[in-house]
Amino acid sequence: MEKKELRNILMLLSSPRKKSNSTSLAKKIAEGAASQGAAIESVYLHQMSIGPCQACYACQKPDSKGCAIDDDMQSLYPKLLKADSWVIATPVYWFNMSAQTKLFMDRCFAFPAYGKNPFYRKRIAVAMSYGDADPFVSGCINALRCFQDSFRYVGAKIVGMVYGSANEAGEIASNEEVMKAAEELGRKLGKL
Ligand SMILES: Cc1cc2nc3c(=O)[nH]c(=O)nc-3n(C[C@H](O)[C@H](O)[C@H](O)COP(=O)(O)O)c2cc1C
Repeated sequence: MEKKELRNILMLLSSPRKKSNSTSLAKKIAEGAASQGAAIESVYLHQMSIGPCQACYACQKPDSKGCAIDDDMQSLYPKLLKADSWVIATPVYWFNMSAQTKLFMDRCFAFPAYGKNPFYRKRIAVAMSYGDADPFVSGCINALRCFQDSFRYVGAKIVGMVYGSANEAGEIASNEEVMKAAEELGRKLGKL
């Protein structure tokens, strides 16, 4: 069997803010992964044109060529396929993941049309930030549960989740504990 040299990690960043807290956490994960020799690529979901799933089921047909919607997901599917791991970074918006992340998740309905069991063995890390002091009150736990249910359903493995309270842009950087946890998660993700 061919031995893989590197782990490929794809970062799916969804906050529109410049000094985004969730992106800062994801970048710490990337630092940890890079220290283990992983190759990292980032995509900014909020800058991409990703429309809602139209439930046409074209992607579910046996000879399907993939999703019928011609937008930026078409360039993302091959990257999703190639990556060993995904890092999903989202702020909590209205007690759940951001709308851009949810659009992306819905469009993963078509992902099985792009490869044989493409979710199988995919490793996932989640990074989230929220304004409330409490992860339950903020809605962070709703989003985490949603990721847990979704990735369990498709057979992917959640390697870890890091999340913390921060309201102002960039504020999360002063939370040493969560930044350390993010770096540690990255190291785990980056190990061969
Ligand atoms: C539209 C919107 C909705 C929000 N909804 C919530 C919420 O339901 N619960 C919460 O705790 N914080 C909420 N927040 C605060 C953000 O989650 C918080 O500022 C977070 O750190 C932003 O992450 P970012 O810097 O990565 O964008 C909301 C912020 C916005 C702009």
